[in-house]
Amino acid sequence: MGRRWGFLIGFLIAVGLLGSGHGEQQPPETAAQRCFCQVSGYLDDCTCDVETIDKFNNYRLFPRLQKLLESDYFRYYKVNLKRPCPFWNDISQCGRRDCAVKPCHSDEVPDGIKSASYKYSEEANNLIEECEQAERLGAVDESLSEETQKAVLQWTKHDDSSDNFCEADDIQSPDAEYVDLLLNPERYTGYKGPDAWKIWNVIYEENCFKPQTIKRPLNPLASGQENTFYSWLEGLCVEKRAFYRLISGLHASINVHLSARYLLQDTWLEKKWGHNITEFQQRFDGILTEGEGPRRLKNLYFLYLIELRALSKVVPFFERPDFQLFTGNKDQDAENKMLLLEILHEIKSFPLHFDENSFFAGNKKEANKLKEDFRLHFRNISRIMDCVGCLKCRLWGKLQTQGLGTALKILFSEKLIANMPESGPSYEFHLTRQEIVSLFNAFGRISTSVKELENFRNLLQSIH
Ligand SMILES: *[C@@H]1O[C@H](CO)[C@@H](O)[C@H](O)[C@H]1NC(C)=O
Ligand SMILES: *[C@@H]1O[C@H](CO)[C@@H](O)[C@H](O)[C@H]1NC(C)=O
Repeated sequence: MGRRWGFLIGFLIAVGLLGSGHGEQQPPETAAQRCFCQVSGYLDDCTCDVETIDKFNNYRLFPRLQKLLESDYFRYYKVNLKRPCPFWNDISQCGRRDCAVKPCHSDEVPDGIKSASYKYSEEANNLIEECEQAERLGAVDESLSEETQKAVLQWTKHDDSSDNFCEADDIQSPDAEYVDLLLNPERYTGYKGPDAWKIWNVIYEENCFKPQTIKRPLNPLASGQENTFYSWLEGLCVEKRAFYRLISGLHASINVHLSARYLLQDTWLEKKWGHNITEFQQRFDGILTEGEGPRRLKNLYFLYLIELRALSKVVPFFERPDFQLFTGNKDQDAENKMLLLEILHEIKSFPLHFDENSFFAGNKKEANKLKEDFRLHFRNISRIMDCVGCLKCRLWGKLQTQGLGTALKILFSEKLIANMPESGPSYEFHLTRQEIVSLFNAFGRISTSVKELENFRNLLQSIH
């Protein structure tokens, strides 16, 4: 127990979760330092200093990941963008053209992806069913009455859904459509101001375990409340604080994308997207944001490491011989699986100091309650995405929350913990194609953010 916590705390310090020092630093001088002061250097006793992460991501992971995400399997994402917002009615749809999402024609999407047995060939499907059958029967004591056996099987099913951190999008709905992610890139849409704030506020205010009386500073330039908020945050247990950091990291990551693909020029002849340094500074400069910006960037690295850890943990699932990235194109599918495994092995080789077993450890009953809370709060966030008025932002918001939800499902799935890696991959652990596509695309987005931070760092250094 002590060692475990030691590990976790070392890790959290490394990614700044427990770091003190709000406002203690010398005022950094240059524009670059003002944004990056919290994300540089060797971080205490953890080997994962930011420079190592940057190098690992930018040169080893990012290029291969991009290639993988361009493949048919990963570019087509099925999503229902017409689900009503469960929390309020007055959604003002963003009318801007840049907010629109162009769904695929049905003949664009490979049949292998559309068909129900997308994941496996028929042969493999049968094999899996047999294995699952055997595993279930093995797990069920045959001396039990038939009724009890049935109940146990029901439990297995329930277990599976209780692993899910996201509300499953109803992709069977006639409203669900395939979207080509490459043709609908995440970038600046002009969706901002009160409507966008409202979404993020609901996420922070109602879903971060936060009491009503403590407000997260909405306007980064307004002073006064900040200290109450952060001292509240520091008083939380590790898990709840981690939850906040994940959301903040996601928020930061999305803002990095929007600053990196800002609509710089908009004439009827040409649209040009590119880096907008001013926009980046407004969100991340330590002075302009009263210290919050650099912490947001630190949270982005936290999110990165969490998803990285989930990926390294789920490797055995993808290593199963019968697992395919099935689109129907045999050679291409095999090649993609090789690339996928190459990426996963690269990830696994990255030295990580994160022991997610320490999460939700301690008193079993309390831990379960906390885990359940965590899950419910996260599900809520995935539902709030249906309230985003800009469809493009809704698409990428859903995809990234589903991806993070999948990462959490992997990290906290008891099945995975119990069965891997000693006893080999468990056939009880499943990821759907939706989950796989969102997991890798979401990680691709954070990986892109880390890469973009390097670009912004260089741009900021060149202006000062
Ligand atoms: C960059 O973003 C700022 C807002 O942060 C905006 O005022 C400015 O016009 C943008 N620059 C360009 C070239 O679009
Ligand atoms: C979910 O969100 C709604 C709307 O913001 C809120 O009323 C509800 O309390 C939230 N539930 C949880 C578990 O966070």
